[in-house]
Amino acid sequence: MSQLDPHGREQWKTRSGFMLAAMGSAIGLGNIWKFPYITGENGGAAFIIVYLVCIALIGIPIMLAEFSIGRKTQKDAIGSFQELTPGKPWFVTGLFGVVAAFLILSFYGVVAGWALSYTTKAMNGELLSIPAEQMGDHFGGFIGTSLSPILWQLLFMFIVIVIVVKGIKEGIEKWNKILMPTLGVLLLILVIRSVTLPGAGDGISFLFSPDFSALSTEAVLVALGHAFFSLSLGMGTMITYGSYLPKNVNLPTASVGISLADTGFALFAGLAIFPAVFAFGMDPGAGPGLIFITLPAVFELMPFGQFFSVLFFLLISVAALTSAISILEVPVAYFIRKFGWTRQKATWILGTIIFLFGIPSSLSLGAWSGFTIFGLNFFDAVDFLASNILLPLGGLLTALFVGWALKPKQATEMADLSESTIGKLWIFALRFVAPVLIVFVLLFVTKIIQF
Ligand code: TRP
Repeated sequence: MSQLDPHGREQWKTRSGFMLAAMGSAIGLGNIWKFPYITGENGGAAFIIVYLVCIALIGIPIMLAEFSIGRKTQKDAIGSFQELTPGKPWFVTGLFGVVAAFLILSFYGVVAGWALSYTTKAMNGELLSIPAEQMGDHFGGFIGTSLSPILWQLLFMFIVIVIVVKGIKEGIEKWNKILMPTLGVLLLILVIRSVTLPGAGDGISFLFSPDFSALSTEAVLVALGHAFFSLSLGMGTMITYGSYLPKNVNLPTASVGISLADTGFALFAGLAIFPAVFAFGMDPGAGPGLIFITLPAVFELMPFGQFFSVLFFLLISVAALTSAISILEVPVAYFIRKFGWTRQKATWILGTIIFLFGIPSSLSLGAWSGFTIFGLNFFDAVDFLASNILLPLGGLLTALFVGWALKPKQATEMADLSESTIGKLWIFALRFVAPVLIVFVLLFVTKIIQF
């Protein structure tokens, strides 16, 4: 603990360590599990184009806003707002973030547990011995069991806690430096396998030749919501990671680089999945079961399928791990400052509470499926509240805060921009473009709830 900043907090050891950690946060289940299936459900290439526009117009400006807030104040998601606008209610933005972190990690850990379990099932040969047409029942049976998925979720949360306990340099930075390059290599091998299969071309054109008639209003809103989720925005994650930054990292470059890496990774995940799905004549629009049901069936037909299935589920588990770490760090950083807890105490207590809160999510897919809130089971209700309400709200407030509550001169300085054209465009995006679009999403969401 040699290089402490004035508040007694750690800082990233290297710029690349920070970049990898932020990429590790962004690249997760969102890229490998969710992006491919929502692309599949919403018509492919046209959806991707809308998604890219959302990343450029809203995602990158808000990421830059979050990094700027964090680095300027060197405080957690709540403390940073209190420091910049003392006595004002802006800190509720961070409060939403801490609550969203609890909720998101609770079900994220459940899905990550499935990925861990599928990794071992792939390794011991059990997965590929299941007849393809029974893959759906197998998956449904597994996630609907009471005990087993919870034990896998427990194992996953335990690994997350053990890394976060070690702190920024020795825990989060060190592990991201190992895991992120591993992730890149795993994905590359899978992409090469997939695009070289006979018949892969249909999957490639599904991803890259747009059919705009397949695009609905809902698809546009899904794209925007997913841009937030995938870039880890609206929850104070990037504020918290930004708060461990020294002054000498250029924030606009970092924001663009991290967003490009995240988007590139999602597209590559699509390239690893769709060519193989099409090559073996499977349905690309299978929804959330795409990677747990459709893909194992694809691996069964592929030469060396078992080897590739192990790589694939390992890929998902590792990607989920580096993201989960960043989610847990949000409340941990807050509790350390606010209540003077040690990192050890904060990580173990908060990690355990989040694990416990995930149990009903897991059970709601089986034993407790009869219990619903607004017609949603507990898992979907928590996902919906966090991803479709709290994250957009957090993003909206963050944009309004930097766009309107701070002076443009101060804001652009914090972001390493001058009041030149780019600085003005950034402020304009935060003042008008992002808020208007996010409000549309939120209005649409309230429409769904009334149903
Ligand atoms: N971005 C991660 C993914 O794509 C998930 C994630 C990590 C996240 N931190 C977040 C989502 C903060 C929302 C907010 O899987």
